[in-house]
Amino acid sequence: MLPLLWGFGLLVGSLLQANPADSVKLIPNLGYYVEMRQIDCVGNPNYFNSMYCKILPPNNRTMEASVVIMQKLTALSGSLRVSIPNAKKVITQIFDITFDVCKVLRERKRKVLIDLLVNTLARNSNAKAWKCPFQKGSFESRNISVTDLPPMLTESEFYVNLDFFIPKVAIGMNVTLHGHLYEIAKEKNRRRKYL
Ligand SMILES: *[C@@H]1O[C@H](CO)[C@@H](O)[C@H](O)[C@H]1NC(C)=O
Ligand SMILES: *[C@@H]1O[C@H](CO)[C@@H](O)[C@H](O)[C@H]1NC(C)=O
Ligand SMILES: *[C@@H]1O[C@H](CO)[C@@H](O)[C@H](O)[C@H]1NC(C)=O
Repeated sequence: MLPLLWGFGLLVGSLLQANPADSVKLIPNLGYYVEMRQIDCVGNPNYFNSMYCKILPPNNRTMEASVVIMQKLTALSGSLRVSIPNAKKVITQIFDITFDVCKVLRERKRKVLIDLLVNTLARNSNAKAWKCPFQKGSFESRNISVTDLPPMLTESEFYVNLDFFIPKVAIGMNVTLHGHLYEIAKEKNRRRKYL
């Protein structure tokens, strides 16, 4: 559905729909899930109106979002920044990339994070909506989830800023997400120990 919104989730985490106990059984010692603490989204109403996004309790591992695209968009760029606390607990930016959304959608070989993003979008959304130009209309999803995170992450608090803009014209929307990434294997061990 709304491709643009899928983006931030996948940057950060693998989201499990099942409850943690089931997940532990289903998924071997690889993978992550994200608990979301706070999300904010603000759109430029000329392009992205009525933006809404919400973390779904009680697990806070899924979110719902909706937006109305006000005009056909032929060019769209994204800027993604990820920050985590360093050893001294100072929030430090670890990732910063600007990309042409339309170009990335056409490419076959992509950077790992971008690839993850695109795959997530393709899986979660109406494939037709997920291509350039983006058509006018309303988009919503009550079940945004991300899976298949690359196995190179570590458990951590994180902050994501995802901005979309129309190059040289206007800001489109800004999304900020604060969450915590957990490793399933560690969670499993913790459960063994304490439950
Ligand atoms: C989910 O978020 C709500 C509101 O912030 C919080 O009260 C609740 O404890 C969270 N649940 C989990 C499992 O972290
Ligand atoms: C949410 O999406 C996942 C996979 O993306 C699916 O397995 C699950 O059934 C969906 N849940 C709802 C309530 O639609
Ligand atoms: C969105 O982000 C851009 C670039 O980071 C910033 O210039 C702009 O003020 C932000 N807009 C809102 C409404 O937060």
